Amino acid sequence: MQQRALGRTGRDVSAIGLGTWQLGADWGAVDENDALAVLEASVAHGVTLFDTADVYGDGRSESIIGRFLAARPDHGITVATKMGRRVDQVAENYTLENFRTWTARSRKNLGVDTLDLVQLHCPPTDAITANRTYDDLDRLVDEQAIAAYGVSVETCEQALAAIARPNVTNVQIILNPFRLKPLDEVLPAAAEAGVAIFARVPLASGLLSGRYTRTTSFAADDHRSYNRQGEAFDRGETFSGVDYETGLRAARELAEALPDGVPLAAASLAWVASRPGATSVIPGARSTSQASGNAEAAVLLEDAAFIADFDAAVQDVYDRLLRADIHPQW
Ligand SMILES: NC(=O)c1ccc[n+]([C@@H]2O[C@H](COP(=O)([O-])OP(=O)(O)OC[C@H]3O[C@@H](n4cnc5c(N)ncnc54)[C@H](OP(=O)(O)O)[C@@H]3O)[C@@H](O)[C@H]2O)c1
Repeated sequence: MQQRALGRTGRDVSAIGLGTWQLGADWGAVDENDALAVLEASVAHGVTLFDTADVYGDGRSESIIGRFLAARPDHGITVATKMGRRVDQVAENYTLENFRTWTARSRKNLGVDTLDLVQLHCPPTDAITANRTYDDLDRLVDEQAIAAYGVSVETCEQALAAIARPNVTNVQIILNPFRLKPLDEVLPAAAEAGVAIFARVPLASGLLSGRYTRTTSFAADDHRSYNRQGEAFDRGETFSGVDYETGLRAARELAEALPDGVPLAAASLAWVASRPGATSVIPGARSTSQASGNAEAAVLLEDAAFIADFDAAVQDVYDRLLRADIHPQW
């Protein structure tokens, strides 16, 4: 597993990390022992980055990670959490006092004195552009509540605004074969500034596993049932904002472009991780087999000819089926 610099922190993180939204909520039930097994399988395959948030299962994802790491004092894992979604989404709520309260809760959940990395959790644009936000985050670093901070964003414009700030460690953004716009400006700007990029929703919420059909159903408490039109949060977080039927067709065409035996999920993850400027791709996994399969995509990442061939298919499918709808939106 390649390890890559986490911005200017001096830490390295694995090119393929683990997203742990599934271990909290919003994707149907995941038993705690199964959640711990997903973490274990990932670490066994060289994963050294867990992405979580204070709202995933209202702290459950953080708490499970905290228990997992407490039993492994020399774990070498970086935990990136998020804050900001426990209140109304207005810039006025992004205050130093709230930052202190939220990070105190996450420190307790994770069982640490200092958080490795905290990301603002897709805040309103005016919180991303306000000087005060970064002054307050710098203060949290001074107070050793956090070691570093970043911003998770919805749009490329927001990403560029965050990258321009001198002490931002990482930007987290949706990047996958159905979401190519960050390749235009965001990844080059991040590389130039020494800002790490975490690529989230890399499997387009599972569409890029290639195993869904028109009749696939999702649990009522799974966001793929209730957020397809953005009813609960940004529409782009569910299936990457791609219309389900179009996504099925695009996934089928990409799968047909692959050599026999190569899973579309692994190809997609390797392709994302191979984009210049991408630091870590953070797929979510609901089972040990998904977690292991995702980490094993690191092997494909070493195969430059395979990546070049798949890149050609990605660009072609995106241009024909997705660009006109997706490119202007995020
Ligand atoms: N605003 C934010 O900052 C934000 C928003 C979204 C996500 N995130 C982070 O990004 C992470 C990743 O995004 P995501 O979880 O939303 O979407 P994702 O990684 O694109 O998709 C995850 C889903 O893909 C399927 N899957 C995973 N591995 C697979 C494999 N090897 N083979 C077949 N199917 C596989 C599973 O679907 P099934 O459930 O159908 O098995 C899984 O639930 C999250 O866990 C979270 O940490 C952050």
